[in-house]
Amino acid sequence: MKVKAFCDNQVKAIRETVGDGAAISALSGGVDSSACTVLAHRALGNRLKVIFIDDGLMREGEPAEVKAVFAKLGIKVEVVEAAGEFFAALAGKTDPEEKRKAFRQTFYSVFGREVLGSGARFLVQGTIKADIIETKGGVKTQHNILEQIGIDPEMGFGFKVVEPLKELFKPEVRVVAKAVGLPERIFARMPFPGPGLMTRVLGEATPERVAVVRKATRIVEDGIRKLKPFQAFAVLLADKGTGIEGGARKFGDIIIIRSVESRDAMTAKATPVPWDVLMMMSRRMVKEIPTVVRVAYELTPKPPATIEYI
Ligand code: XMP
Repeated sequence: MKVKAFCDNQVKAIRETVGDGAAISALSGGVDSSACTVLAHRALGNRLKVIFIDDGLMREGEPAEVKAVFAKLGIKVEVVEAAGEFFAALAGKTDPEEKRKAFRQTFYSVFGREVLGSGARFLVQGTIKADIIETKGGVKTQHNILEQIGIDPEMGFGFKVVEPLKELFKPEVRVVAKAVGLPERIFARMPFPGPGLMTRVLGEATPERVAVVRKATRIVEDGIRKLKPFQAFAVLLADKGTGIEGGARKFGDIIIIRSVESRDAMTAKATPVPWDVLMMMSRRMVKEIPTVVRVAYELTPKPPATIEYI
């Protein structure tokens, strides 16, 4: 792929498709949506509205960091504060599929509201080739966000989807992301699931429990970053375990550290993390997160386990 020619062609194509209209882009901070937002901004300037939905399930400092990265590139990001809506939808839900469904419905409802209120008639979407292949192969039901938020692009609304990355695979998207000036922490970013830290809290995802896993995630990322794993994170179990504090028994949280090596996330192996790094992360967790009494490292490959816990 000739990256400069690719970017120039896509910018031209977006300009031609959107004409003098306006477009909207949902930025997650992941490499796909980030790269396609920069291309669309080059094409449309201020006629592109960039929104970032803060669902309360992001990692530490993520909304501010995404905003700062894009501000440096001269791209204004509108943060939609929706944590309250997401936690209300997740309240009382412990079943993984029910949690995923509640997340999805809330996302589509918040995003749908933004799209319809924006006056834009074009949605710029970071769909990549793997998404389309998985949709056709039946792994994912739909890749088209407009259909998922109840807007049929063919029917009445006059909406059009613009997908500048749809011919690329992830490694090529990373090349584009780097070429358009995104920093390494975006173009080399680890995969992070759409439903965010919700997938790493077993049982109910309350604001308090998400805060525990958020702190633990920061400790894992700080500790393991140098090893450049495919993916590394923390998981909060639903069960509690016994510990000791000030000479008394304390029933507290259990954190699992998961770090894997993989090429495509279809199979994965546990990272051989050095003992001292594991010990340092474990010590930091019990010291810095008051509810945590136990920390364990996960060894299971995929298959039979999956990478995430739900
Ligand atoms: P599993 O857990 O199935 O994960 O081995 C494979 C890869 O997909 C990511 N993942 C998700 N990504 N929404 C996403 O956008 C999700 O619901 C989701 N679940 C898993 C996971 O992080 C890994 O990279």
